[in-house]
Amino acid sequence: MKTIKFAFQLLKMETLQKRIDIIFNSKKAADEKLQKICQLLHDEVEHYNWVGFYFRNGNKEELKLGSYVGAETDHIIIPFGKGICGQVAVSNEIFVVPDVSAQDNYLACSLETKSEIVVPIFKNGENIGQIDIDSHKVDPFTQNDQDLLNYVCERISEFI
Ligand code: SME
Repeated sequence: MKTIKFAFQLLKMETLQKRIDIIFNSKKAADEKLQKICQLLHDEVEHYNWVGFYFRNGNKEELKLGSYVGAETDHIIIPFGKGICGQVAVSNEIFVVPDVSAQDNYLACSLETKSEIVVPIFKNGENIGQIDIDSHKVDPFTQNDQDLLNYVCERISEFI
């Protein structure tokens, strides 16, 4: 049953990837593409309840919130090292948090959030930002999510 569920999820991810391509291949402005990607992921993936982008704020050691879909957040600026996002800005690695209550260095966006995944975006080898996804479910993220979000981040680096 678990295998069937995984295969079904994979199929859905492949369909999603095609819709992502349509957005990225369009002639829309960069911000509009990012907003549409947030909306698509938020609407189509059941366990994605908050989808947003943070980018490095100029030359400062901090992240600034960009496009997002989901509940309003107080975390517009996040210093490097703070929270899950700030840690990814420093580690340059994907951070999957199956249960946010087990994390000490975590910035709560909403009390409903149970888990989170943050995937860095690289441009010319430099960590320039990230996609951040919060879920109301505990431990929902699989390798399929990592692959899909890595793909999104790679495509973003082509035009950002
Ligand atoms: N939870 C994040 C903060 C951003 S909100 O989820 C939108 C963190 O710990 O860095």
